[in-house]
Amino acid sequence: MRTIVSLPGDGIGKTVLPEAIRVLEAAGFNAEYVHGDIGWEFWQKEGNALPQRTIELLEKHKIGLFGAITSKPKDDAVKELAPELQDKGFVYFSPIVGLRQHFNLDICIRPCQAFTGNPLNFIRKDGKGGFEEPKVDAVIFRQNTEGMYGGIEWTNPPKQVRDAFETHPKMKSFANVPSEEMAISTRIVTKNATERIIRAAFEYANKFGYKSVTVCEKPNVLRETSGMYLKIAKQIAKEYPGIDLWDTNIDAQMMWLTKNPETYGVLVSENMFGDIISDGFAGLVGGLGFACSANIGDEVAVFEPTHGSAPKYEELNPSIVNPIAMILSAVMMLDHIGEKEKADKIRTAIAKVIEEGKVKTYDMMKIRGGADSIKYGAATTQQMTDAIISFL
Ligand code: NAI
Ligand code: MG
Repeated sequence: MRTIVSLPGDGIGKTVLPEAIRVLEAAGFNAEYVHGDIGWEFWQKEGNALPQRTIELLEKHKIGLFGAITSKPKDDAVKELAPELQDKGFVYFSPIVGLRQHFNLDICIRPCQAFTGNPLNFIRKDGKGGFEEPKVDAVIFRQNTEGMYGGIEWTNPPKQVRDAFETHPKMKSFANVPSEEMAISTRIVTKNATERIIRAAFEYANKFGYKSVTVCEKPNVLRETSGMYLKIAKQIAKEYPGIDLWDTNIDAQMMWLTKNPETYGVLVSENMFGDIISDGFAGLVGGLGFACSANIGDEVAVFEPTHGSAPKYEELNPSIVNPIAMILSAVMMLDHIGEKEKADKIRTAIAKVIEEGKVKTYDMMKIRGGADSIKYGAATTQQMTDAIISFL
């Protein structure tokens, strides 16, 4: 039997992850779940939100299901350390970023697929006095480990760094700015990682029958880094004659996705641009309650909803948050490990619940979340899960 590392983390992560496991079990997926410590509690007690024992569990079992974590700014984090750990030099580091880096989970996949009948779906005027609802089915491949979020940045860059930058002719425009008044964030992209994410995008398009792969960058301005994406994409595209390669600029893409989102299939971007377009597309198919993701490396893969720990809802009993993003992330896990039939079964059950429209969490009703959401007809988290299970 397969073993899955369950990493609920903080806040609503602890609520939605058990719901996903309930659905997996009801779909007939038999696995053993081992609990991995991760999150704020372990930062406070041990000065490490990602303990070594959790890393070892993932090294051993390879597949993780992750809920969400709470993170806070550095200085606030230190204040919440246990008294005996204060002033010992502990520095807070996001455990999910830590996982991505430690296991080189460089391929991030974020599908944004509309379910028929979801009241949150994108609609537009049809030109005949009515509305139409284009079928959005976009899958974003986001490079997950480098680029703009590589973490190589300075406020008041040290002299060596400043001197190195001064070798670039464009630095002339900053000649009179003292280093103390300067902040620098870098965007480093590498051939190997770029090839890997672009190839992963084409492979996915090929496997699931998408007609196009769109490289979404900004090569007219970011000539070097976006330029590398486009160049490598053109090379790789030659190996996939049945799939069109398109390229768009990130800014224009944000406009196109609110005009004709149905045009796009697989998209691929560097880390920050991938973050931006995946949130953009997620907004067209229901937002955070529906946004799922996979972080995939050569050895290890971790599946997680895009949302965070939503602290304002963590204490609510019964819970009102939407478990679908977490459940869809678990479905991506099934796809990844070759359990396609069970994955499809769960996807179909979710689609039926949404199409039937009887059971809706508060976010699907455009009402404010809170204890009284239920009074206005919102389903609880558990009721949504039960409804999905009833269609399995
Ligand atoms: P968030 O995603 O936790 O919540 C934003 C808002 O989205 C919530 O207040 C709620 O209205 C809604 N929401 C989120 N998940 C939902 C669900 N399943 N169903 C219905 N509504 C939902 O982001 P926020 O408030 O910016 O951050 C809260 C904490 O989560 C912070 O400590 C942040 O650092 C952390 N975070 C963690 C992430 C992760 O674990 N990967 C990602 C994003 C934030
Ligand atoms: Mg984001």
